[in-house]
Amino acid sequence: MFFDSHAHYDDKAFDEDRDELLKKLFNICVCGIINVACNMTTSQRSVELANLYPLLWASVGVHPHDAENVSHDYIESLKKLIANEKTIAIGEIGLDYHYNFSPRGAQKRIFEDQLILAKELDLPVIIHSRDATADTLYFLKKYKPRGVIHCFSGSTEIANEIINIGMYIGLGGAVTFKNAKNPVLVAKSVPIDRILLETDCPYMAPVPYRGSRCDSSMIKFTAEKIALERNISVDDLLAATKENTLKLFYKIKN
Ligand code: NI
Repeated sequence: MFFDSHAHYDDKAFDEDRDELLKKLFNICVCGIINVACNMTTSQRSVELANLYPLLWASVGVHPHDAENVSHDYIESLKKLIANEKTIAIGEIGLDYHYNFSPRGAQKRIFEDQLILAKELDLPVIIHSRDATADTLYFLKKYKPRGVIHCFSGSTEIANEIINIGMYIGLGGAVTFKNAKNPVLVAKSVPIDRILLETDCPYMAPVPYRGSRCDSSMIKFTAEKIALERNISVDDLLAATKENTLKLFYKIKN
């Protein structure tokens, strides 16, 4: 059974068959999903989905892409969503200097706002960082949150810095890609008690489904690749990463 620590089932890619698909996944192979939001609309949607499915939990927050568009009282709105018992994390939050859809100043401001909120409420954070390693590390070292760097693609040195802060490394479909050097090195070397498995579906489908719509069942291929690289059984990897997920996202009652 797979625990998917990072998915976006609110995405329009699932509009045609969301309910059917989720029911099938929970019946066949999935024992838990964290649905991760990117803005206030998907935060609301994430909580609604969590209230519909017993094995789906919500993370709420504003992604750096949406930094410029937040309302002045968005933290108050997030707090209302966090009051729901199925809301278990804040994210995805962070910095994205690859696309720069919002100015860097706005990105940093709302990243910091939400790190402070997470500290205040003692909630884990789900971090998005793209081409922004130095600034992301600066804020993480400053606030030392509980949390995970999702879809980690940095070097083993950066992975060690993250682990020293006390955080986790999220690994997804990228470890199966042919050109994926860093994710494979990290998957091999990071202590097993620091790894979380994720899909980031509908994006990032692993090989052999690369390019098609991803769903949580495809975590199988990511798990097989990591287990192979570490020379351990898939069952052991799944058990360890599930335990890590439940430890970090401690509000999940499973
Ligand atoms: Ni994501």
